[in-house]
Amino acid sequence: MQAMKNTLVVALEERSYPIHIGVGLMGLAELILPHIKQKKVVVVTNTTVAPLYLEVLRSTLKKGEISVLPVVLPDGEQFKTWETLNLIFDAMLGARCERGTTLIALGGGVIGDMGGFAAACYQRGMPFIQVPTTLLSQVDSSVGGKTAINHPLGKNMIGAFYQPKLVLADLSTLDTLPDRELKAGLAEVIKYGLIRDPDFYNWLESNIEKLLTRDKEALAYAVHRSCANKAELVAADEKESGERALLNLGHTFGHAIETGMGYGEWLHGEAVAAGTLIAAELSCQLGWLNAKDVSRIENIFVRAGLPVFGPKLGVASYLELMSHDKKVQDGKLRLVLLKEIGMAVMSEQASVAQIGAAIEARCT
Ligand code: NAD
Ligand code: GLY
Repeated sequence: MQAMKNTLVVALEERSYPIHIGVGLMGLAELILPHIKQKKVVVVTNTTVAPLYLEVLRSTLKKGEISVLPVVLPDGEQFKTWETLNLIFDAMLGARCERGTTLIALGGGVIGDMGGFAAACYQRGMPFIQVPTTLLSQVDSSVGGKTAINHPLGKNMIGAFYQPKLVLADLSTLDTLPDRELKAGLAEVIKYGLIRDPDFYNWLESNIEKLLTRDKEALAYAVHRSCANKAELVAADEKESGERALLNLGHTFGHAIETGMGYGEWLHGEAVAAGTLIAAELSCQLGWLNAKDVSRIENIFVRAGLPVFGPKLGVASYLELMSHDKKVQDGKLRLVLLKEIGMAVMSEQASVAQIGAAIEARCT
């Protein structure tokens, strides 16, 4: 298919960068070569993505006479660890990569988060490019500079804010994405509508089936609108001292599900979907959403093929896991809740009893 492209900018002054979104972009040397300063790059990817896209990227880089040091990691959330991170450092040190060498993360959010963290740490910071290949990474994780690995006690607990120089979201890569992963990505797309973009939420209610059948125009619109929302929030609050935290709707519960079930059991997007319904339930208990709104939210997640109930870990386990959340301040849990569809707020208002009741109601 003919390459088509839309570009957004994450406006962070001297650290601003473009997000290119379109079909066939990985083949366009003019998009990527201007961001690379040396004749060698490191491409961090995994055993699933490498056979699909490493050669495409390599042949594009070859047009600029740039050679590739591939670092092919094991695939899975359970490998988002120190041990795997060290494999990147071992390869880069072994190949004498320099501070000016560019690291390209080619893959989903796990590769993007780990590659970005490696780039942030290696010789105190090397240039870094995101080439996201899942829907979730194209609409969320590749944008905004959050990089991390997991710890047994909590998701994404060890990391850094470190912005890429470029995000290249090639929609062609979504052709090979398994259905379950596509659906998981939709959880983060729906999130933008819920937290701050009611018109987009309405559009999603009318177009969710088109996204599920991978209609390219619908996907291009959804990725663009999601990234536009994210770019605005990141530009306003890069290090999450305020409104960026709204992007965490459903995540405090979701991260508890991912950690409690064992990394990789529930996909991130699936855990966020169930977590969003717990947050909606709690918002209803607080008198903000009505029961009709909660059903409306449940309905869109069901249509997207996502879970709307969390696993029964027990309220005490949820609360213990949630106590590690990065939004905890002075020991007090803060949650992203919904005032209405299209308007999220950060709140300390819910009591432990109310949180427990929402978990009970929404976990089977
Ligand atoms: P993932 O990276 O595990 O990718 C999902 C699966 O799809 C993997 O098996 C992967 O190998 C495979 N895959 C990737 N691209 C493919 C393609 N084009 N065709 C076929 N298979 C492909 O999962 P994800 O959903 O992309 O990302 C989830 C991760 O992102 C979590 O670790 C989460 O914490 C993180 N995250 C980070 C941020 C952030 O702001 N940094 C935001 C949201 C999520
Ligand atoms: N995915 C949450 C954030 O980037 O802030």
